[in-house]
Amino acid sequence: MDDYASLESEARARIAAAGDLAALEALRLEYLGKQGSVSGLLKTLGGMAPDERQAKAPKIQALRDAVADALAERKGAMEAAELEARLAAEVLDLSLPAPEASKGSVHPVSQVMDELAEIFADMGFAVATGPEIEDDWHNFTALNMPESHPARAMHDTFYFPDIGPQGGRMLLRTHTSPVQVRTMLNHGAPVRIIAPGRVYRSDSDATHTPMFHQVEGLVIDRGIHLGHLKWTLETFLKAFFEREDIVLRLRPSYFPFTEPSVEVDVGFALDNGRRALGGSGDEPGHGWMELLGSGMVNRRVIEMSGLDPDEWQGFAFGVGVDRLAMLKYGMDDLRAFFDGDVRWLRHYGFSPFDQPTLSAGVGARV
Ligand code: DAH
Repeated sequence: MDDYASLESEARARIAAAGDLAALEALRLEYLGKQGSVSGLLKTLGGMAPDERQAKAPKIQALRDAVADALAERKGAMEAAELEARLAAEVLDLSLPAPEASKGSVHPVSQVMDELAEIFADMGFAVATGPEIEDDWHNFTALNMPESHPARAMHDTFYFPDIGPQGGRMLLRTHTSPVQVRTMLNHGAPVRIIAPGRVYRSDSDATHTPMFHQVEGLVIDRGIHLGHLKWTLETFLKAFFEREDIVLRLRPSYFPFTEPSVEVDVGFALDNGRRALGGSGDEPGHGWMELLGSGMVNRRVIEMSGLDPDEWQGFAFGVGVDRLAMLKYGMDDLRAFFDGDVRWLRHYGFSPFDQPTLSAGVGARV
């Protein structure tokens, strides 16, 4: 064995014994680097006589190729082993169940508003909206509550310093009734709408929050009378509470924007101290609960809304959405509705996949 052959076998042995890529790189530099021993041998070729060079050049070049091949082969093997080890370590078991995504829920107020929209859509009502920052004229004056009207004092109004287009101050709407005026002004007659939304009053205790929700109803057409109002409310309340035995009592009342005005009560029975709607309130052990305000739209409101009250008349009603939600789904503290506590929402909220439909039952499954 000549020197080249023993150099080659020594290099092969050391390459085979290299423990990692860094050791392998050190060997590459030692043999094939600029100062490497094999590189050194190649350089000596330049100084040789032609005969000697012809004899040695193929051997030295073969040595260089053999070392380079051995290094490349070992490096490939190391890299493959490393990849193998990583694949084994990072194994992903696709048969494992995915971590459960945190699910949101629909707030009872949104749920009830969806239910209202569904029930009233079936009776041909569209959903209308109006601004929460309202002006004095739409919120009060056009609803037959002029500047000096005592009923204004009953609405603890949040006012802005800004003056509105009709001269009065801007305010946070105290009820959804201004949507009546806006709808008649913008769309004329006939009208069949509900207007659910947020309203504001400076009031706060267990049953009052400074922000709460109402839904307004308005029907304007030719020849509308109180019978239409009663049928509509009865049909709505039966569908909403999902009970055929809902009984209404219409009581004379007063609202500036309706004439005549009626307060609507529903009969309930006491069931283990809880009020369960259904049946006449006059039966023994029963009672009447005040539920909503309504009436025939005052002709002055129709007039201020740009319509001729001799041609067009109709009815309106207003009811608290939060109140409806409490009655239907059994919460008793209104403040918890707006605390934003996710535990409350998890308990009282509804699945977003449980869309209210009349055919499948408008109430959510609880
Ligand atoms: N806007 C009244 C309130 O907030 C509720 C109301 C009563 C609305 C009678 C109506 C109605 O449309 O006819 O107290």
